[in-house]
Amino acid sequence: MKAGNWREDWREDWREDCLPRAGRVETWMTATGPERHRVYNSAVGNISSARMGRRTWTRRRSSSSSSSSSPSPRTCWVASLVVRQRRSGVLATIAMVTAMAILLFGGSSNSGHVSFVSAEPIGPPDFFNCNPESTCCLPVPSSPPTPFVTNSSAPLRTRRAIHNVLQDATYLSKLDAAYARLRELESQSPNDPRGLFQQRNLHCVFCSRPPGYGAPFSMHNNWFFLPWHRMLLYFHERILAWAAGDPSLALPFWNWDDDAPAQRALPAAYGNRSSALYTVNRRGGRDIARMLQADLTTEQLFREIGNVSDWRMVMGSATRGGALEDYPHGLVHNAVGSAMSPFREMGNLAWAGYDPVFYAHHANVDRMWSVWRGLPGREDPAAVDFVNSAFAFYDENAMVKTMTVSTVLDPATNLRVVYEDVTDSWTRPSRADRAAVAPAPPGGKPLAAPQTSRAPVVVEDRNVVVAFAQSPDATPDPGAVPELTLRDVLHDRPDPLALYVFINDPDADLDTPRAGNPNFVGARYLVAGGMTMPVSFTLPISLTLGALNLTLGSNFTVQVVQGVDIGLPLRQLSIQSIDYVHQPGV
Ligand code: C2O
Repeated sequence: MKAGNWREDWREDWREDCLPRAGRVETWMTATGPERHRVYNSAVGNISSARMGRRTWTRRRSSSSSSSSSPSPRTCWVASLVVRQRRSGVLATIAMVTAMAILLFGGSSNSGHVSFVSAEPIGPPDFFNCNPESTCCLPVPSSPPTPFVTNSSAPLRTRRAIHNVLQDATYLSKLDAAYARLRELESQSPNDPRGLFQQRNLHCVFCSRPPGYGAPFSMHNNWFFLPWHRMLLYFHERILAWAAGDPSLALPFWNWDDDAPAQRALPAAYGNRSSALYTVNRRGGRDIARMLQADLTTEQLFREIGNVSDWRMVMGSATRGGALEDYPHGLVHNAVGSAMSPFREMGNLAWAGYDPVFYAHHANVDRMWSVWRGLPGREDPAAVDFVNSAFAFYDENAMVKTMTVSTVLDPATNLRVVYEDVTDSWTRPSRADRAAVAPAPPGGKPLAAPQTSRAPVVVEDRNVVVAFAQSPDATPDPGAVPELTLRDVLHDRPDPLALYVFINDPDADLDTPRAGNPNFVGARYLVAGGMTMPVSFTLPISLTLGALNLTLGSNFTVQVVQGVDIGLPLRQLSIQSIDYVHQPGV
């Protein structure tokens, strides 16, 4: 294989192995932005039962020692990559910008602002009909689903901060007893949807590949991430309350966003070997704390979430993940999950729901969404394809309930769930950020087109790739938000991923400090078992430009480093383009 052709070869394999109709890949390659994702999604959905998909999986199984207990995702896409790499014997050696890929993708790299395809609401998924290729189909319901009904007189559940409940022995023993019951149920009646393994399946079937109930029901890297996980927590909590025999039992939240170093470590109750909250499938406590303390900083959470009013940036859009998902959420998953493939439990979306700390982690993600939403000027998306989409869950009586996104947008009223107040330091700027002057508009002639790096860039191990982001020579309105988008990150296997992004730091590498470094823009994380299709990440850069005394008209360079310093495996990956845009003020 010629250097530089691997990106193209992946596609070639995908085309051969995975597409029932060749015309489809052409559509995908020439489509831009969301359209491309849609076509891709539907192609992936269509292969689920296709003969071709099964053949690829067989090839993969027979050529590796992975047993049926391996949770490796079985999408055609991944399988073909693995086969390809075995065949060619080439792994982490190629690093070049490929001219060929420009030909393949050139038409899409200038699409600029995220545009939204107007779409229909989705759901609810059909639990009677699960893709046999999924490793985690839920039990078939004994009766048809019924809609969830709000009950305003239901007891209010207050989710408390883990550092407060750690002092509360009565609460902890109830929580422990609830998980012990779920584990017992798992062994006594494996098909009971309330058992812990079935709760794991519930997350797995919607969050790992292939999606069990069809391509639209993939709950990561799009705007359903937050509401769907809010529903999952709600039903899981009701099941815990049932198991503990205490209707007021609420989940705790692990507030890893707190300044205190103690909160940036695995909560002690979950590390107690004799507790039902424990699992052996995690990194060591010291590693977890080191990883979280290095990259989970209040300042960074402010820059990416507290300071950002655009929901697309924080919550994600129809086709893209938001900062809450791809920064702190993904980091905590990767820091807690075991360090070796398949990265069980938290490190792999297929397994995460099997670790009780997953629910305390997500309770914090969910809480941060609520806190962000309560800041002035913040809104949830109002599009009907968001608010009217519906999902389904087993409740504490093992009955299927359906629920719409609109229901969970007001959790206190409709779910009777609230969070204990804690200090949310990430909603306020650090002293340095307060001092940084917002980047001034350049003045001059308007030019609307975003600037973009000219070719796909390949991010290797320590070798930083420098992409150009020449400033748009625009006169953005004073409220314009400058953003960087790493568009269509394509990677070779569904392992965990970390990317660190810098501006004007040509020597940036794994040893470059991130916390407190004015050149550091932010990090993005993907969790194993999830996305293998191209994903895009958008990062706000206003405060970075301000700290570096750059104006919105300045030229600068961007460095992207793959984060293998935290024990994540090196992956071959390329970024279709790095775009610099000024989003109109919101
Ligand atoms: Cu669907 Cu944190 O995962």
